[in-house]
Amino acid sequence: MEQMKRTVTCGQLTAKNEGQTVILNGWVHRNRDHGGIHFINLRDRYGETQIVVDEDAAEALKEKAGSLKFEYCVAIEGIVRARPESMINPDMVTGEIEVSVKNISILNSCKTLPFMIEDETDSNETARLKYRYLDLRSKGMQDRIILRNNVTYAIREYLQKSSFLEIETPTLIKSTPEGARDFLVPSRLHAGKFFALPQSPQLYKQLLMVSGFDKYFQVARCYRDEDARGDRQLEFTQIDMEMSFVSVDDIFKITEGMMGHVFKKSLGVDLPLDFQRISYDDAMNLYGSDKPDLRFDMAFQDFAPFVPASSFGVFKSVLEAGGAVKALVVPGAAADYSRKKITELEETAKTFGAKGLAWMKVTTEGLDGGVSKFYNDQADAICSGLEAKEGDLILLMGAAWKTACNSLGAVRSRLGKDLKLIDENLYRFVWIVDFPLFEYNEDEKTWEPAHHMFSMPQEQYLETFDKDPGPVKGDLYDLVLNGYELASGSIRIHDPELQQRIFNVVGFPKEVAEERFGFLLESFRYGAPPHGGIAAGVDRLVMIMAGKESIKEVIPFPKNNAGMSPMDDSPAWVDADQLQDLHLNIIMPEVDKKEE
Ligand code: AMO
Repeated sequence: MEQMKRTVTCGQLTAKNEGQTVILNGWVHRNRDHGGIHFINLRDRYGETQIVVDEDAAEALKEKAGSLKFEYCVAIEGIVRARPESMINPDMVTGEIEVSVKNISILNSCKTLPFMIEDETDSNETARLKYRYLDLRSKGMQDRIILRNNVTYAIREYLQKSSFLEIETPTLIKSTPEGARDFLVPSRLHAGKFFALPQSPQLYKQLLMVSGFDKYFQVARCYRDEDARGDRQLEFTQIDMEMSFVSVDDIFKITEGMMGHVFKKSLGVDLPLDFQRISYDDAMNLYGSDKPDLRFDMAFQDFAPFVPASSFGVFKSVLEAGGAVKALVVPGAAADYSRKKITELEETAKTFGAKGLAWMKVTTEGLDGGVSKFYNDQADAICSGLEAKEGDLILLMGAAWKTACNSLGAVRSRLGKDLKLIDENLYRFVWIVDFPLFEYNEDEKTWEPAHHMFSMPQEQYLETFDKDPGPVKGDLYDLVLNGYELASGSIRIHDPELQQRIFNVVGFPKEVAEERFGFLLESFRYGAPPHGGIAAGVDRLVMIMAGKESIKEVIPFPKNNAGMSPMDDSPAWVDADQLQDLHLNIIMPEVDKKEE
């Protein structure tokens, strides 16, 4: 039989179409038999339309309607008519009408479903990923994939209008250390050699600047062999940008404009024209994180001034060892926070390396509970200094500076959620600037780049950074949204000598650097322009816009947390012939051999 091709979608018919004969194609979302009348909800990506087979319809048609099960793919021909007043659904575009069926053609049947296709399914993740093509039929997933499309469309629109060129860079590249572990691709033609999949287009976009394409962007797939978790995947997408002859302010301006356009176009939300900026040191000192969630305030305060006059030895030793003692005042939380709940907060702090979490409560008489006996004689000074009022809970953390910040930061985040301090409708952007250029790796006893090796030290450190890397700040920045690191970037080094000095600090002597990055260093010798850029994670951006907490909710075919795809069972074994072609021999790890 000739296929009945749709004349309209399932999301478009209204009272204006009354009386028209239409053909709809779609999936059976619901099929209810109300005493001989069949109400079928037909669904496609545009919406749902109610289809009715009346009681007085031909027997064959009624029989066919009765045979339609969930997710059958069907074509339906019928006449649009107004719904009876009592059945109008004002929440649906098509809620005023129904289609009275003349003809049904089953395009394909459907097996019993592994889970129901619902707006937001609560079925388990393995089933959702194994049958992802079904999960993607749900309204929630469809809405998010469409949002994702709208976001990348708006980004392209904005950047194209701002004279950026969209340029592709290769995905089979040389393995160059960039922070995470590379995925390697064995070469068949060159035995024993490997390509790597790019962790980001970093080096290529810098080379494009040397080539004179002064405004570049790419919706770039990136690959990192690291543990997958809520906001990380093995492969993910960046809006990757690079510009020549720019300052940090120029890069911020274009990024802010782009975000403004994206939020307006895809969510109808007006963002502020420019975003707040906080230095890395302030972000850590005030919020205990380099990606603070500023949808609520509750900043830390310095408790060190109250330490010397007290006999509480723990904090004294912390200060003597050069550490920090920080206070977090939780307004009105004294009554609610029992010892048990405070112990839970302490557990959170301990996962970030803290040894404990001290506390006291503000009462009419002064300070009470926890470590209050050590501080009661300073109660007035503490309460006025910290602006703590009766009924407040004061949490105190003493540890090495970074541990104190990070662990109290984790407590702050948890309190934000537990006390419902977060306005879920807010989009709170903040630039974190003045990051340290290097981080010390205690285990390896080496300096590592805090971002990557191509970022510029700030001018005042140019002479001395190799001698004392610790305090050096770089021209690098992160864009943070609602507590997530959304984007990262920097002004780059374009001088081969300076680049080599950075390589030396992070332990790449000249020969190693030449072998690994020789092509980049060489390109800088041919009139490389000053340049800088940024890359934003598309998955994270869309996740936040969609109000979700896992990027898997906005990626059509993601991997699970074990880094596998339950749908196609990848990664998978390959034939011995394929391995031979690639000159590879597999040596199984001991533990796997035992399991087999
Ligand atoms: P960076 O490594 O900070 O910088 O990455 C930039 C942004 O990409 C996103 N992102 C991820 N998203 C999902 N899964 C992951 N595994 C993952 N890793 C990173 C984040 C992050 O902010 N080349 C530099 C950028 C530059 O300097 O221009 C880079 O890749 O949102």
